[in-house]
Order: sequence, then C-alpha cells, then structure tokens
Amino acid sequence: MNKKTVEDIDVRGKKVLVRCDFNVPQDENGNITDNRRIIASLPTIKYLLEKNAKVILCSHLGRPKGEIKKEFSLAPVARELTKQLGIEVKLADDIIGESAKKLTSNMNEGEIVLLENVRFDAREEKNDPEFAKELASLAEVYVNDAFGTSHRAHASTAGVADYLPAVSGFLIKKELEFMGNALENPQRPFVAILGGKKVSDKIGVINSLLEKVDTLIIGGAMAYTFFKAQGYEVGDSICELDKLDLALELMEKAKQKNVKLMLPVDTKVGKEMKQDTESKTVKCTEIPAGWEGFDIGEETIKLYKEELKNAKTIVWNGPLGLFEFDQFAIGTNEIAKALANVDAITIIGGGDSSAAIEKIGLSDKMTHISTGGGASLEFLEGKKLPGIECLQEK
Ligand code: 3PG
Repeated sequence: MNKKTVEDIDVRGKKVLVRCDFNVPQDENGNITDNRRIIASLPTIKYLLEKNAKVILCSHLGRPKGEIKKEFSLAPVARELTKQLGIEVKLADDIIGESAKKLTSNMNEGEIVLLENVRFDAREEKNDPEFAKELASLAEVYVNDAFGTSHRAHASTAGVADYLPAVSGFLIKKELEFMGNALENPQRPFVAILGGKKVSDKIGVINSLLEKVDTLIIGGAMAYTFFKAQGYEVGDSICELDKLDLALELMEKAKQKNVKLMLPVDTKVGKEMKQDTESKTVKCTEIPAGWEGFDIGEETIKLYKEELKNAKTIVWNGPLGLFEFDQFAIGTNEIAKALANVDAITIIGGGDSSAAIEKIGLSDKMTHISTGGGASLEFLEGKKLPGIECLQEK
C-alpha cells in the first residue's frame, strides 16, 4: 500500500484538517482513563506545527447518534491535548457551524483548533456529501490519522477526501507499515494467535490468516465451539451451536493449507462469571456439566509458549480468557510475557489484547500495538478500509 503521507505534500502555512481517533475511554467524572490514542496522534500534530501549518483537528467520541450530548463532548480531549502539546488547543462549540468557522477563519500559523464531536451531526455517519464538503471548506489539505476509524466510510474519514488533497498522517503510515508488512511479507514461521468470545466475530480473519500463516493458535471462548463441533460436551461454556459446521470447515481448511491449527488442550473452568468463583482446570474434552470455561490451562500455555519460541512474526488479536478477572487472566498474561521475550516481530491488533498487555506493563516490549480495534481486525481480514482507500497514491 503506497499512500502519500503528510511528508509528501506542502503544508507550510496551510490550513490542515486532521481526522484523529480521539475515541478514548473516560470515567464517570469525564477523566480520560486511557490516553494512548491521543499520544499516538502527537507525531503528526507536532510535525504540522513545525511546518507552521494551521491545524484543525476533528474526531468522534462514542456513539451519540447524531445528537449533541454533553457526555460525548471532546472538551476533555482538548484539555489533554493542551497538556500534552504545551500550547492551547481551542475547542469549537460545533463542527461546521458559526463557532468552527469563526475559530478557523483567522488562524495563525502554528495554532490548533479542535472541532466538536463529528458524530453530533447525523450526516457524519451517513457520509453526506454536503456535510463532507462543508467540513472540507474549513481547510486546504486533509490528513487522515484516525486508523481506528478508517473502517468507517463516514464524512470525516472518507467523504472529505473528495474535496481536498488527502494524505495519511504518521500514525496510519506506521500501522500500514507494520501490519501491512506482516501480512504481505512475513518473516517465517508466521504465527497468529486469535482469541475472543465468538467464532462468528472472527470468521473473516481466520479465513484470511489461514492463507498466510504457518500456525494458527486459538484461545478465548471461541475455542469451545471447536470442541462442541468435534462432538465433545462443553458444559456451560460459551458455544455457538449454529457455527459448528463452520468450525469443522475451518479445521479442514487448515489441514488443506498445511497450517498447524492449535486448540487448547486444557481449560480453567469456573462455576460462575465472577471474580472469586470456584474454579479448576480440566481437559478441554472433559468439561463437566455446570462449569464454564474461562481461560486456557497450564498445559496449553506450555504448548503455546513452545510454539511461539520459534516464530519470527506473531500477530495477536483477542484475549485468551476472561482477563478482566485475575484468576482467569493467567493465559492471556503468560502469552503476553512470552511475546515480550521472543525474538520475533510482534504485532498486537485489537482493543482487548492491547488493553491486557497495557495492564501488565508490557506494551513497550511489543514491536507494534495497533490503535485500531475493529479497524485492525478488518485490516487483518484483508478488507479495504475506506479511510485509507480514499488517500492519494504515491
Ligand atoms: C473504535 O474505538 O473502534 C473506533 O474509534 C471506532 O468506533 P466505532 O466502532 O464507534 O465506529
């Protein structure tokens, strides 16, 4: 993928509209609890400031469904950006209204304005051309740096590129470099680890990775569907009864493609989905009635770690157990530790797996942690992302 970046276009003294993904979690008092997406946006913003551009930032936050709702305001983001950049980031009261026009019409070089949540206008998600045109009219250049939202064909992520020269920022450039290279030109052995609740959420990515990897490691609750499909009882574990045939087909495809498909051999089961519920480890083929699988077991951890030792490229998407509860976070944590110590390119895609790695302080030991949840999943599936497709080719 050879898209133009902010370095391939003249931004000096120009008004530049930058689409960021500032969809960050907050607590009930509006304090940002995870600012990683804001930090990840800084290289592009700082570069533009160095070039004396007039920076107009925009983003969504949450899903306000076209209504103006105070709890979805970008005010906390403006404060955090001001803190991080050490210069005032002014927040417009609207997106393309009077306030936005007033603040952006007389900007000085090196000044920054943040527009209010683009999803306060229903036309954003409809990719309405008039809305996109008005948004574009605020600036002279468009930079997309919202990798996490690039799978959405919305006005601020794609539509606006019809009216302005459109290039990527450094965050998208980095995502494409690491994830793109891993998929197109992986150093082998190439191992993918997929976790999460449902096979149905991951069909696309499993199918696509089976074409590319040497080993596919499965964890998380979706593993139980594979066991049920093979005729085993899975107790009260999450299981998609309508996906049993599909699970068998995926196992067959792995065989045909010569991909080593690894399923857990043991699992930690609990009585209830509760922090301190009674638990024990059993074989995956012998899950008793009344028990629910919440994590991979020790034997599985050993086997998976052994496989990872030889890998040269590892892509991981989705936790391997109910990592929110300490007693069921062991599988996810142990695999994260293994990734921190392997001599391989390690790429983490997906909100939950990166949150799990962040929780145990291993983020800086990974080669690349994607800022995208749904977006990185779609990228791994090989889908075209509208927010990237719309950018100019080199
Ligand atoms: C995300 O958090 O995955 C992105 O910001 C996209 O948000 P959305 O799923 O509401 O479009």
